Amino acid sequence: MTDRYAVLGHPIGHSKSPLIHTQFAQATGQDIHYTAIEAPLDGFADTVLAFRASGGRGVNVSLPFKLQAFEIATEPTERARLAGAANCLKFVDGDRILADNFDGVGLVNDIQRNLGFPLAGKRVLLLGAGGATRGALLPIAAERPALLSVANRTPDKAHQLRHDFAAHVPLQTGGYDTLLGQSFDVVINATSTGLSQDALPLPDGLFAPGALAYEMVYGKGLTPFLKQAQAAGVARVADGVGMLVEQAAEAFLWWRGVRPDTAAVLAQLTVPLV
Ligand code: ATR
Repeated sequence: MTDRYAVLGHPIGHSKSPLIHTQFAQATGQDIHYTAIEAPLDGFADTVLAFRASGGRGVNVSLPFKLQAFEIATEPTERARLAGAANCLKFVDGDRILADNFDGVGLVNDIQRNLGFPLAGKRVLLLGAGGATRGALLPIAAERPALLSVANRTPDKAHQLRHDFAAHVPLQTGGYDTLLGQSFDVVINATSTGLSQDALPLPDGLFAPGALAYEMVYGKGLTPFLKQAQAAGVARVADGVGMLVEQAAEAFLWWRGVRPDTAAVLAQLTVPLV
């Protein structure tokens, strides 16, 4: 029998997840049907439970429901708990709802495997201290960077992360002014400025020679952050399309027990950054 999955969000029309998972299923011979569902803003839990009742086996969760997805779970993983958010649910044995967060591991896999940038021993900087950064911290720390730093417009939110993650990863945290005089091998924009088109107050010398500048948002071309990086001489810039595809591959593996190859889907979705 065909197993049903879906991505839930609001809005959801732009989602690439149905295309990605349908291609993964075709390539691996898995019999699944994957759709996009726009849940009402005040009806996420009801939509999830109705989908499960109609035979759904799991869902991906998009904005703005990642916190609610974590809350509805009966068994979140440690990394979902620390992120305070889930982007994937799996329904098992009656009432159990497992939750995980694959955004961070998707980011790490994209940077290391697709972009060929090992994080071990590198100085890594995350810009922003919201949910996107929370989800990325443990998977990045697992690769043993020399330094993991978080800078945020509101420094206290970055300091709060240092406190929350203290048992798992030592973080350097502060406002953008504290970056003066420091340089990093990998700089990841996890703020929402990729969508709002605002520039960030990045000091000169922030990017080390040969650095990678990574924008988590995808499909927006050269965002202000990526333009700032290029203006600072950075040759390696990337947006988050690979993160999207790699987190989907992790979800597919979790649901189906089969790891799909991501290269073909990634090539299809990649748009040159201009
Ligand atoms: P997400 O869950 O996607 O991370 P979020 O929790 O709303 O979204 O966080 C957005 C992040 O972008 C925050 O770190 C925010 O900084 P503040 O904590 O100071 O609000 C950051 N951000 C948004 N607009 C920004 C701007 N114009 N300049 C700098 N940082 C910005």
